[in-house]
Amino acid sequence: MNALVYHGPGKKNLEDRPKPALQEVTDAIIRISKTTICGTDLHILKGHVPTVAEGRVLGHEGIGFIEELGSAVSGYKVGDLVLISCITSCAKCDYCRRGMYSHCREGGWILGNTIDGTQAEYVRIPHASNSLHPIPVGADVESMVMLSDILPTGYECGVLNGCVKPGDTVAIVGAGPIGLAALLTAQFYAPASIFMIDPDDHRLAVARHLGATALVNGTSASAVEKVLAITQGQGVDVVIEAVGMPVTFDICQSIVAAGGHIANVGVHGESVVLRLQELWARNITITTRLVDTVTTPQLLKAVMAGHLMLGGLITHRFPLSEILRAYDTFGNAAKEQALKIIISNN
Ligand SMILES: NC(=O)c1ccc[n+]([C@@H]2O[C@H](COP(=O)([O-])OP(=O)(O)OC[C@H]3O[C@@H](n4cnc5c(N)ncnc54)[C@H](O)[C@@H]3O)[C@@H](O)[C@H]2O)c1
Ligand SMILES: [Zn+2]
Ligand SMILES: [Zn+2]
Repeated sequence: MNALVYHGPGKKNLEDRPKPALQEVTDAIIRISKTTICGTDLHILKGHVPTVAEGRVLGHEGIGFIEELGSAVSGYKVGDLVLISCITSCAKCDYCRRGMYSHCREGGWILGNTIDGTQAEYVRIPHASNSLHPIPVGADVESMVMLSDILPTGYECGVLNGCVKPGDTVAIVGAGPIGLAALLTAQFYAPASIFMIDPDDHRLAVARHLGATALVNGTSASAVEKVLAITQGQGVDVVIEAVGMPVTFDICQSIVAAGGHIANVGVHGESVVLRLQELWARNITITTRLVDTVTTPQLLKAVMAGHLMLGGLITHRFPLSEILRAYDTFGNAAKEQALKIIISNN
């Protein structure tokens, strides 16, 4: 089968690999229909994720058809169209029992990380009963790909951890797919305003279309000044960090209102400065989270009910045979005006 294989920092290739086989009775083999590339795959290719070994098939998002089922997998039959969660969950361990699938003793984020992933014609999914979701008849299949990772991430790590409430002022730092997913799902709670902060005017225009009430083109001090000016110096009730850099965490500390929340989503590769000497008396809460994907069934229902405009997130489409071109496009997102790229295995 064709698969996108990581060969160390800066090196990847589309190559022929053996089709995966069942290893445990709880596994399923999925024939991939559609997959995509995540910002985290670019982090891997820069060598930022040391758990990914050379020779690994990348990808942790996608949908596909069940090709083979282990004898202990329940709830599915061969031929079913399913959504693959980016997080694998046994549903039985102590972490899974309290909804923290991200820290599952036998799973968590392993796909395209410590086991072969979805950017291939076939993938093996461990603990398939709880790591797949049935795709309802009539679903828009491309939208379903947004449910593997970006929607639960923006919702769980950003909106739920940030405790967005009706009437709140919300700021989202970073208008990439994750920041935009937070923008879409924050609107479940009817906040009074949502500010989007990013240096990319194309992404800000998409954010406007998806419901942002104010756009702030800026990267650090300029962004802080603009948000404080719009809020009469008060700052915002909830600020969602969806970039993962020291400077963007610093924007969050500078614009959070007294009593507010900073919900960190970004993957951080270096230390940030925590200005506790200014924040200690401001009654703020700072949260972190690796996505658990426990809200996927709920988000799936919201998508089916037409409450989320996911089409706006998909900008490009490529066949699996051209996945290297898809990576080039995604890697030059600002120039190519790229957000999510659908890769089809025809
Ligand atoms: N916590 C989790 O479980 C989890 C899951 C998935 C992804 N992530 C992380 O979330 C982050 C966002 O992911 P993405 O795919 O949307 O990434 P992305 O790279 O597509 O988007 C980041 C955005 O930040 C903007 N940006 C860069 N510098 C900025 C600055 N100084 N001020 C404001 N904006 C700035 C960029 O223009 C870009 O639009 C990444 O760090 C990713 O690794 C976390
Ligand atoms: Zn991802
Ligand atoms: Zn578990």
